[in-house]
Formats: sequence, C-alpha cells, structure tokens
Amino acid sequence: MDDQMSLLKGFLGTDPSKVKPCRDPEGDQELYDTPPAEHLPCEDGKCDGSGMLPPPDGDPVGRWSHCSCTKKQRQRARLERLAKQSLMPPGLLEKRFKGFQVARAREQAKRVRAWVDQFTPHGPGLLLYSRENGVGKTHLAAAAANTLLSKGHAVLFVLVPDLAGKLVQRDEHPQEIVQAMMDAPVLVMDDIGQSEEGAAEWRRAELRRVLFNVLTHREQNHLPIIGTTNLGTKRSFDDALGKAATSRLFGLCDGWAISFAGLEDYRLRGFQE
Ligand SMILES: Nc1ncnc2c1ncn2[C@@H]1O[C@H](COP(=O)(O)OP(=O)(O)OP(=O)(O)O)[C@@H](O)[C@H]1O
Ligand SMILES: [Mg+2]
Ligand SMILES: [Zn+2]
Repeated sequence: MDDQMSLLKGFLGTDPSKVKPCRDPEGDQELYDTPPAEHLPCEDGKCDGSGMLPPPDGDPVGRWSHCSCTKKQRQRARLERLAKQSLMPPGLLEKRFKGFQVARAREQAKRVRAWVDQFTPHGPGLLLYSRENGVGKTHLAAAAANTLLSKGHAVLFVLVPDLAGKLVQRDEHPQEIVQAMMDAPVLVMDDIGQSEEGAAEWRRAELRRVLFNVLTHREQNHLPIIGTTNLGTKRSFDDALGKAATSRLFGLCDGWAISFAGLEDYRLRGFQE
C-alpha cells in the first residue's frame, strides 16, 4: 500500500511532504490564516476532544484509554485520503446511484448496482459502452467507484483521452502513471478509445500501446477495471484499440460488459427542435 501511495503521490504532482508552509519574511514564524486547530469537541460526547479518556476513578493502575471518537476520525481521514488519491474530479466524486433517474436506464442501473454488490478485489471488472452520448455511463461508473471508495477500496481514476498528452510530458511522470494504472486496486478508465482532439498518429499509437500493456497486466493479475467508452460495435473497438486489447478488455469484464445502446442523451433533455 505504501508503494501504491508513493506512486499516486507522483501522479498527483503534489507530494504533500514538499508543500512548504507560508513563512513570515520578517521572522521565522509560520503564518496561519487561522490559529492551529485546538481540540475539536468529542463527537461522542465522552472525552475532552483529545481522543483520550482518563482512567476510571479508583483504577489502581491509572491507565488512559482511547475514546471511541478516535476510531471514527481515523476512519473518516482514511476515506478522505482515498477519495483524494483516486484523482476523481470533484464533479464525479459527487455522483451517486441515488441521484440517477433509474427510469431512463433501468436495466443498466440495476446491473451496475449488482456488480458493485458482488465486487471482490480480484473479481471481474465493469464495462459500460454505447455510441450514444449522455446516457449515464460515466455517472454510473463514478457511482460504482464512489461506493467502493466508501467501503475503503483504493481507486484510481484516469480520463483516457487526457492520457496521451500526459504520457509525453516529462513533468507528468509517464512511468509512474503507467505503473499506477497497472497496480491500482481498482482502475477507472473513462472514455476508452478516445484520444485528444487532433492528436498525432504516433501519440495515438503510444496510447494504444500503454492501454494494451495495462490491460494485459491487469488481466494477468486479476485486477478489476471500471471502463466507459463510446465504442459501440466490435469493429469500432478493434479499430480504436486493436483486436488483442479489445479481447483483454472484454475478458477483464466477463459477464459485466453492459450496453447503453438506444438510450436518450440526458444532456439534451431540454432540447427542442
Ligand atoms: N439517468 C440519469 N439520471 C440523472 N442524471 C443523468 C442520467 N443520465 C445521465 N445523467 C447526467 O447527464 C450527464 C451526462 O451523463 P454521463 O456523463 O454519465 O454520460 P455518458 O454516457 O458518460 O456520456 P459520454 O458518452 O458523452 O461520455 C451527467 O451529468 C450525468 O450525471
Ligand atoms: Mg462519459
Ligand atoms: Zn472522544
């Protein structure tokens, strides 16, 4: 897990240990907008906010014990850290099954929910596909990922079209990105098969090579993905990814490749001719 964290830190580009506090130019005092946090009140109303409970009266040994609030705080801090390390954009961290209008994609929503319920760390992945835009693929992929995050699973989100650019920029740590994509316990790949607008052919080829390697590694190590794509036909998958990568992608999501074909674009729901 520590290895994973350091890789993801590289991916984040903001290694917290390198973030320096703002210093007062006149002195060597650290500047704070607000004073350093005092103890917050205990959420269980038991301790003085320090997280420690004094020994009960008359206890001959006199040992202090941890208050129940510390466990909850640690748990919350861990979930916050997982959400941050997932690199999910804030708009996607908000997506839930609850906010999804099921009537628009009933079968698909039920299947995605069922996938989450049967999830195991080395079980099958999930692939949501359709040529149609705005039908809820990314929404449901994010809702699934957020449910896993809330259960403590480490997730890494990658917007595939962004990847081509990142892979050729030194300051984006291409090797770390690829390694993190290979090793993340759960990898969300949004918009598989898309490249950046107007990307040169050699960059597309590099992206295809990386996707192939990532899919191969994850298949061999039984590591699940959550993928979305606008590819809708076998031919378009083969053309965009190559036959071997397509085969691995569907193999990884065995039984859980869910088509959203024929649904209406939610983004255009207010559109009138
Ligand atoms: N059934 C739904 N209920 C509520 N919101 C929805 C529903 N379907 C889509 N949306 C919303 O519409 C927007 C577009 O949906 P989403 O991004 O999931 O579509 P998509 O299928 O991934 O589209 P694209 O193929 O263009 O990537 C999002 O803001 C999403 O939350
Ligand atoms: Mg999408
Ligand atoms: Zn307490």
